[in-house]
Amino acid sequence: MIFNKKRRWHCLPGQEPTELDKKVMYWENKGKEVPTRSLIKTAEQIEGIRRSGVVNTGCLDAVAEQIHVGMNTQEIDDICMAFCKEHHATPACLNYEGFPKSVCTSINEVVCHGIPKKEDVLQEGDIVNVDMTTILDGYYADASRMFIVGKTTPEKEQLVRVAKECLEIGAEAAKPYSFVGDIGHAIQKHAEKYHYGIVRDLCGHGVGLDFHEEPDVMHFGHKGTGMLLVPGMVFTIEPMVNMGTWKVFLDADDPYGWEIITGDEMPSAQWEHTFLMTEHGVEVLTY
Ligand code: MF3
Ligand code: CO
Ligand code: CO
Repeated sequence: MIFNKKRRWHCLPGQEPTELDKKVMYWENKGKEVPTRSLIKTAEQIEGIRRSGVVNTGCLDAVAEQIHVGMNTQEIDDICMAFCKEHHATPACLNYEGFPKSVCTSINEVVCHGIPKKEDVLQEGDIVNVDMTTILDGYYADASRMFIVGKTTPEKEQLVRVAKECLEIGAEAAKPYSFVGDIGHAIQKHAEKYHYGIVRDLCGHGVGLDFHEEPDVMHFGHKGTGMLLVPGMVFTIEPMVNMGTWKVFLDADDPYGWEIITGDEMPSAQWEHTFLMTEHGVEVLTY
């Protein structure tokens, strides 16, 4: 007995399939991974995520204005927490699976999930990623930026720049009815042009109604693989680019078990935005 394959995509009952329905079903019939309809955000949800994105951007702008040599990362946490409070938002990181702070602050060889603390004082030449996720009226927006503290080396400057280009090139590759793998392929190609390591163990993700939704957005891989990108999907792209090896480890010294460091302790850079897929390409929701 051969059963029908279970569909992921369902048309709305009692309605003619739309052009969007037809395109998704075309790819599903070809054996491609497609989203479920629940991953397509409504106009109301998109507005909610957009408003959360505005608060998110406000947090990172406030950090940008105040970051300086000698500041500790707890102060960055305080800035983000205060901005959230003022704007009736909640930091999604706080108490998320045991994460003790409101924002991630990852310095130099810390790839991501660095925990703010008084003891971590920013030094001239440090490169630091500040990764904020806001919840406003139940809607999540997730973004991160790199900050160069004072003046750094040309090598670290280039790493920060190329990591940003990786995000931009990945966003450019994200076209409606293309695939998640197209994003990863473009990013990997750009990072490896500079002989940088593109991190494989952590990825971007669907976002909006929850912190981490489907699909996983890999920053490496092959064109035409992974989930079909459909207008209405909201997801992050957040490439982590290492100066040396792409291999990463959990920092054994972190009692919370969150901080990720590079295998060779060379520096790492990351930029992240939350994107909405439209009929024409992606729109940034965290500007
Ligand atoms: N904001 C991170 C991301 O980009 C996740 C941080 S989880 C935390 O997906 F618990 F470390 F905050
Ligand atoms: Co994210
Ligand atoms: Co993030």
